[in-house]
Amino acid sequence: MITGAAACDSGSLMTLLERDAWLNPDPAVTDVTHGYLKGLTPAWMREYQVQPNPAGKFTGPHPPPAREWQLDPRAADFLDVPPGEYADVICGWFARFLGRSGIILAPSCTMAFVIAAQAVLEAGDKVIVLDCSYDSWPTLLRALGARVVFARRAPDGQPDLKSISAACTRRTRAIVIVSPDNPLGVVCPPGVLDELLVLCAERDMTLITDHCLAPVNPMRAHVPLVPKLAARRPLPWIALADTGKILGLGGTKLGALACAPLLRQRVEAAASAWFFQLPAYDLVVIAAILGDPRFTAYRLELSARIAGNYLRLRETQPPLTVAPLGAGPFALIDGAGLGLDDVTLTSLLRDRYRVLAVPVSWFPSGRPARETRVRVSLSRHPEVIERLAAALNALATSR
Ligand SMILES: Cc1ncc(COP(=O)(O)O)c(C=O)c1O
Repeated sequence: MITGAAACDSGSLMTLLERDAWLNPDPAVTDVTHGYLKGLTPAWMREYQVQPNPAGKFTGPHPPPAREWQLDPRAADFLDVPPGEYADVICGWFARFLGRSGIILAPSCTMAFVIAAQAVLEAGDKVIVLDCSYDSWPTLLRALGARVVFARRAPDGQPDLKSISAACTRRTRAIVIVSPDNPLGVVCPPGVLDELLVLCAERDMTLITDHCLAPVNPMRAHVPLVPKLAARRPLPWIALADTGKILGLGGTKLGALACAPLLRQRVEAAASAWFFQLPAYDLVVIAAILGDPRFTAYRLELSARIAGNYLRLRETQPPLTVAPLGAGPFALIDGAGLGLDDVTLTSLLRDRYRVLAVPVSWFPSGRPARETRVRVSLSRHPEVIERLAAALNALATSR
């Protein structure tokens, strides 16, 4: 049996589970652990993966003329193009998405987070994170020498401003918000983000927002982004985004940072300590895809397909229930009606139905409470969701 205590003792059990399911996929197993896309990548994107940049072009007519596709698929023409040309296309996309220029690219959102934290923290500083949010952030903050303080959520999952404010001391340097949230899918409203920005400005802190799940918006929610909210105001913020949750490219992904002008130098300095090269293959494939006119339609279709998967799960037989979805690729299945806690529900799904899901209690929190929800990824082919739905219904009616 997997327990929350085990999760703490062995690093991120969630990541280990997600990684193993990704590295060695078993067709008999329904893997709804990680939020990366699986089985939803269109053929035109896969062609870019096979031959990233036919004839050295990454813009121009699409689909590329047939003649160019006759080239040896192993041709590496893209290596002759200065990487900055690809990076500009990608930064342009992030800048339009976040509403802010001056994007700094990183190999992943995780790396972007470490850069953001290093830009504003010194060892011994305090950082406020929310109960039950993305589990790597508190772990990485501690690894950087920060002291992590958990703040409570309101009953609707929103950050509890009173709890955050009460947790701030002279040593508090940053507040971390994930919106849309992983695992809860909560979208932080503009008023709350605004109050957090003002609180940070008053107390010499920085608001670090992880918006990497924002492009996945199945219910067409309004997802406020801090770079847009803070425009033309001298507020202290750093925002993170990435391509990993919208492009299912088997690990080809990039993270991005945007920040307030007043923090620019510190973020650049923190980034400079880590690297200056990004994989040329990742740059060219991602630039080609983001620059392809088919990408806009793809994004809308993707969110619509994820919405379809969510609506399919909503038909789950009581007493299992599916929580309302804010945004992002995750749904929460609640075992309370069956009298099951989340770890037992996860184990039953795994042992009886070969479904791999993640118990919500694996997400760290300052005040652990009884938890009955498990997280499942909706970024899957509808056939996978069909298998998940069948397992949930069988479980719901078996007891
Ligand atoms: C909210 C959130 N932020 C960041 C990450 C890490 O992203 P990356 O794979 O780009 O490091 C994840 C991964 O699941 C996530 O869910």
